[in-house]
Amino acid sequence: MAKFVLKDPFYKKAKEEGLRARSAYKLKDIDAKYHLIKKGDIVLDLGCSPGSFLQVLSETVGEKGAVIGIDILPTPALPRKNVKVIRADIRDVDIVKLFGEFGLTHADTVTCDIAPNLSGIREVDDARIEELFYCVLDVVAKALKPGGNFIIKSFSTTVQKNITAELQKKFSKVSQYKPAASRAVSSEIFFVCIGKK
Ligand SMILES: C[S@@+](CC[C@H](N)C(=O)[O-])C[C@H]1O[C@@H](n2cnc3c(N)ncnc32)[C@H](O)[C@@H]1O
Repeated sequence: MAKFVLKDPFYKKAKEEGLRARSAYKLKDIDAKYHLIKKGDIVLDLGCSPGSFLQVLSETVGEKGAVIGIDILPTPALPRKNVKVIRADIRDVDIVKLFGEFGLTHADTVTCDIAPNLSGIREVDDARIEELFYCVLDVVAKALKPGGNFIIKSFSTTVQKNITAELQKKFSKVSQYKPAASRAVSSEIFFVCIGKK
């Protein structure tokens, strides 16, 4: 396993470029393809620790934008003025109150790279993925502006159809994309959802 990680070109690149995780390249890849995040945007990043999406987003939105990160685990401090991080479980967070505390009403984009703890038992894990997905969707319903965009990581599961159908109800366009940095052996896939209805 250690050998596999050390040889991974994205892992190496992240180390060299001072990025906290190789996931950064997944987000960069998605944004290079879909151009969803702009200077001055407000972005909410769910499941933000250790913070590589935050690093990319902070750079993209610039000093007139803002990035709010939420994670159940601590996120090492990021010395960027346009980034705020909250330690919370997404299932309990009062997002309207939180945005209010930051003087914000809505986000232009929500990114979600949350990975639930998996047990290896398919039925249990699929139920966890689905439960978390609906919690995330509730946050998105409240925090994302109409017309806003949503990028969410998912996994190939028995509930994939329900997830796709639910996203299609809520967004004008839903695409699936596997970034180059996403390992071929992983069933991970990103939904890119454009234009909240
Ligand atoms: C793959 S990591 C995210 C990596 C991050 N995007 C980055 O670029 O550094 C997934 C994160 O989801 C978080 N997570 C899992 N369940 C969560 C929950 N219920 N509420 C908030 N965060 C959660 C984990 O703590 C973990 O840090």
